[in-house]
Amino acid sequence: MLPTQRQLYDHPESSGPITLHTAEDFEGMRAAGRLAAETLDMITEYVVEGVSTAELDKRIQDYVEGAGAVSATIGYRGYQHASCISLNEVVCHGIPSDQTILEDRDILNIDVTVIVDGWHGDTSRMYVVGGSSFPTREKLIRVTYECLWKGIHAVKPGATLGDVGAAIQKHGEKAGFSIVRQFVGHGLGEQFHMAPNIFHFGKQGKGVELVPGMIFTIEPMLNVGTYKVDIDEEDGWTARTRDRKSSAQFEHSVGVTADGFEIFTGSPKGFEQPPYL
Ligand code: MF3
Ligand code: CO
Ligand code: CO
Repeated sequence: MLPTQRQLYDHPESSGPITLHTAEDFEGMRAAGRLAAETLDMITEYVVEGVSTAELDKRIQDYVEGAGAVSATIGYRGYQHASCISLNEVVCHGIPSDQTILEDRDILNIDVTVIVDGWHGDTSRMYVVGGSSFPTREKLIRVTYECLWKGIHAVKPGATLGDVGAAIQKHGEKAGFSIVRQFVGHGLGEQFHMAPNIFHFGKQGKGVELVPGMIFTIEPMLNVGTYKVDIDEEDGWTARTRDRKSSAQFEHSVGVTADGFEIFTGSPKGFEQPPYL
C-alpha cells in the first residue's frame, strides 16, 4: 500500500531522508510524466538532418509552455534551455545551440523535465538522424534501452537500489559497454533532484531498501569505450566521453507501488523504442 499520508524514510546509505508519496501524489506525477513523454513524442518528427538543436529546444519550450506547464531546467543552476540535447560522444547536459546541426546517422538523447501543478516529470530517449546509424551505435542504443528496463524490473518493495544498479551494470557490461559513474538517477516529486541517488551500478542486496511511495528516475548512461567523462570547461555543462567514443541514455520517472513499479513517463505514442530494435 502507498502511505495514506506523506512520510519520510531514513536509511543510512541514502544521501538524505526519502519522501514516501501518497496515491494523490502519484496522480500529480502521472500528469507531469505524461506531459514530459508527450513532449518527447512531439519532437520526434522534427529530428531530421540539417536542423539545429536550438530549433528543437525552441519547439520543446513552446510545447511545454503551450500546455500551461513550466520547464524545470530553465533557470536550474543557471541552465537556460528547456531540454538537454546530447549528440554522439556527449554523455548528457548537451546545450542546445544554433551551431549544432544534426547530421545523418547522428545519435542523440533529448532530455526534458517539466513541472505540472508542482510535480516534476523527467524523461529522456535516444533518437537516430535518418533512421539508422552505425552498427556499434545502434547496439549501444539497444543495450542502453534494455538496461533501463532491467533496472525498472528490479523495482519492487523489499528489493534494494543495489539490485537496480546491479541489473543495469551486469547487462551493460556483458554487452561490452561501460556504465557512466559520474551521473546518477535521483528522487523527484515536488523537487527536481531529491534523495536518494540512483546508481546505475552496484551490488545485489546492497543499498537503500525500496518502499512503496518512493519516486525516482532511472537514467543509465552507457559508453562504447571508457566510462570516464570530461565536463566542458567553457560552458560548465556539456559532459563528453573522455575518449570521444559514443554514449547513450534513456530515462524514466518511476514510483514504487505495493507490488512493483509504476512508470510515469511512458510514451503515449509508443515512440520510446527506437524503430530498428
Ligand atoms: N534532466 C536531467 C536529469 O535527468 C537534468 C538536467 S539539469 C539541466 O536529471 F540543468 F542540465 F537541465
Ligand atoms: Co533525471
Ligand atoms: Co532528465
